[in-house]
Amino acid sequence: MSVFKQEIFWDVVPYVSLAILIVGLTWRYRYDKFGWTTRSSELYESKLLSVASPMFHYGILVVIVGHVIGLVIPQSWTAAIGIDEHLYHWSALILGGIAGLATLVGIGLLIYRRRTIGPVFIATTKNDKLMYVALLAAIIAGLATTVIGMTPAGQAPEANYRDTVAPWFRSIWILQPDGVAMAAAPLQFHIHVIIALVLFALLPFTRLVHMFSAPIGYLFRPYVVYRSRSEAGRDQLLGSSPSRRGW
Ligand code: HEM
Repeated sequence: MSVFKQEIFWDVVPYVSLAILIVGLTWRYRYDKFGWTTRSSELYESKLLSVASPMFHYGILVVIVGHVIGLVIPQSWTAAIGIDEHLYHWSALILGGIAGLATLVGIGLLIYRRRTIGPVFIATTKNDKLMYVALLAAIIAGLATTVIGMTPAGQAPEANYRDTVAPWFRSIWILQPDGVAMAAAPLQFHIHVIIALVLFALLPFTRLVHMFSAPIGYLFRPYVVYRSRSEAGRDQLLGSSPSRRGW
């Protein structure tokens, strides 16, 4: 793609993705308010879930905080408080790398569980399957930027995403898209961000809508308690009245 075409691409495509996200979420809320859910599968399997789910969710939270810091705070601000680029870069690589790896292992286990536990797989919609592919790809491509960032090529001045990706990211929100800045970023960032933009456009049509409504208390609440209806389970319930026959 010529530089001009690339520039147009980075000026326009983020708005297409955002428009689909906003219109899609509005549509989903209006027409599927009661389907706005994680479609929890805890009832079918909880052992693997209790390890994989926190690993993924805590990992992705750290990744998101890292993205906000890396993309929103200009390089000049961190420099002004005495954090030089070298220190910033390596701290971001190490912290981001650990969080990204936890996210990857978490999502890997969640997808394995979803594929191998029959009822969980049956309860997975086509859109969710597509979303898992995009989510996994975004995480792997993100980690690829981290790995490349640790090589000599990734430390070259032109590979500093705070001069290219970050200014472009900020320019989107002030409605003055700077596609030229993003076009100048190395290929690994282009691939990562294109996958992320596809993922954002898919969000409204998948179980990931729960990320827009999950209360913060979710992180600290105990798991929902499911009680067995078997004879053994019922006997352990103090004060439970004898149950009627099922239908
Ligand atoms: C427009 C949206 C996005 C932009 C501009 C963006 C940009 C970046 C940049 C610049 C890095 C390199 C960070 C570093 O080396 O210090 C990175 C890494 C990463 N990204 Fe993204 N990203 C976006 C969306 C996403 C999404 C949606 C996900 C996951 C679902 C994701 C997951 C990751 C991961 C796992 C890493 C590596 C570990 C880390 O630095 O946290 N990114 N991203």
